[in-house]
Amino acid sequence: MINIALPKGRLGEKVYKLFSEAGYEFPGILDKGRKLIFENEELGMRCFWVKPFDVPVYVERGTADIGAAGKDILLERSPDVYELADLKAGFCRMAVAARSDFVDDPERILRVATEFPNIAQNYYSGIGREIDIITLRGSLELAPVLGLSDVIVDIVETGTTLRENNLSVINFIADLSARLIANKSAYKFKGDTINEIIKKLAQ
Ligand code: PRP
Repeated sequence: MINIALPKGRLGEKVYKLFSEAGYEFPGILDKGRKLIFENEELGMRCFWVKPFDVPVYVERGTADIGAAGKDILLERSPDVYELADLKAGFCRMAVAARSDFVDDPERILRVATEFPNIAQNYYSGIGREIDIITLRGSLELAPVLGLSDVIVDIVETGTTLRENNLSVINFIADLSARLIANKSAYKFKGDTINEIIKKLAQ
């Protein structure tokens, strides 16, 4: 049996589409119900929806053999897993954004609002800038508009959210997309099956 952790939400639906196109189907998985676990006995596979941020936890601890996680979450959590493939879905970028009239004063500590404190810290350590991190859970765009922070470190996909809140990208941090990750010992024992899945997903 192969256990698969999929991220609940938009990205997970895109990733599931790749699985179903590859012949790995889990009837009812896209229904609007509250069920979280779906098994396909014929394939010997079981899928479960987990919060996107939690996918690496299930995989690192071996509850899931493989999972699909956004690169943002992998950069933030640095899980001890194998990152085996770029699923080429959910393309977006991690960036620093600020109000269009923002002028940086390098003498001052920069106030950075983000859902990704480790990514923000690594980025600013890399350029030698001291920051004050303000960790929030979503709707980050409010922070610079209301004066809670100077900048945000956030995901940008189409740029619409930034534009509609009079913010713009001032620095690029990383390209993001969904990645296929595997538990290290599962990969040792079920590597052939996992590689076969990756091959089919890529076709
Ligand atoms: C993400 C991100 C931005 C938005 C960017 O938020 O945090 O707010 O998408 O997308 P865009 O560039 O296409 O406008 P999400 O919708 O995941 O919700 P959140 O604010 O709760 O994190």
